[in-house]
Amino acid sequence: MNPLIIANWKCNPETLEEAQELFFSIKEDIKNKDIVICPPSIFLPSLICEGVNFGAQNCFWEEKGAYTGEISPQMIKSIGCDYVIIGHSERRTIFHESNEDIKKKVRKAQMAGLIPVVCIGESEDQDTFEVIEEQIKDIGRDVILAYEPLWAIGTGENASLEKVKEVREFLKDRKVLYGGSVNSQNAKDYLEITDGLLIGGASLNAGEFIKIILCDI
Ligand code: PGA
Repeated sequence: MNPLIIANWKCNPETLEEAQELFFSIKEDIKNKDIVICPPSIFLPSLICEGVNFGAQNCFWEEKGAYTGEISPQMIKSIGCDYVIIGHSERRTIFHESNEDIKKKVRKAQMAGLIPVVCIGESEDQDTFEVIEEQIKDIGRDVILAYEPLWAIGTGENASLEKVKEVREFLKDRKVLYGGSVNSQNAKDYLEITDGLLIGGASLNAGEFIKIILCDI
């Protein structure tokens, strides 16, 4: 099975023009590969094209209705996305999403035909396995998990390979990606012990992102 590489652009770049520029500088290198681009949802319709996989960075748990500001899994699917990131630590900490909220989102995303990429991981003062156990409880097996310890996200401090191996082992036959300060220098090491990568900061730099993709060949 080929590793999956997911680019999480988060709330970047600032304008549609910049998003198009970034996308067009990676487009030919990511076509027809196991790579998923997750730009801000508002840019998706302007970027979606044949041969490239797209995902949203979040979704709501209802199909439609009076929920100002929310985007449903059906809407995401209908514009041509196949994936959705759910429960990113920034959603959990800044927007106070609970494991219960995340479970509802996962269920509804699956019902809409999306593949959920569920982010899990501990903060510095927490026990990794206790936290993960709770985060994956009742979430079902049909999801991709992204292990992203909070202290490794955007900090330049990676989780050790031993730690990622332990988590991989703990999650056994599930599909597990690693995320947290992945760059072109360390991507290969993590690819060897996981099923793929979730990349934030380094996916905003076309040259760096292409180097990461090339590690995988
Ligand atoms: P990072 O982010 O690669 O910038 O650490 C990863 C993520 O938050 O998904």
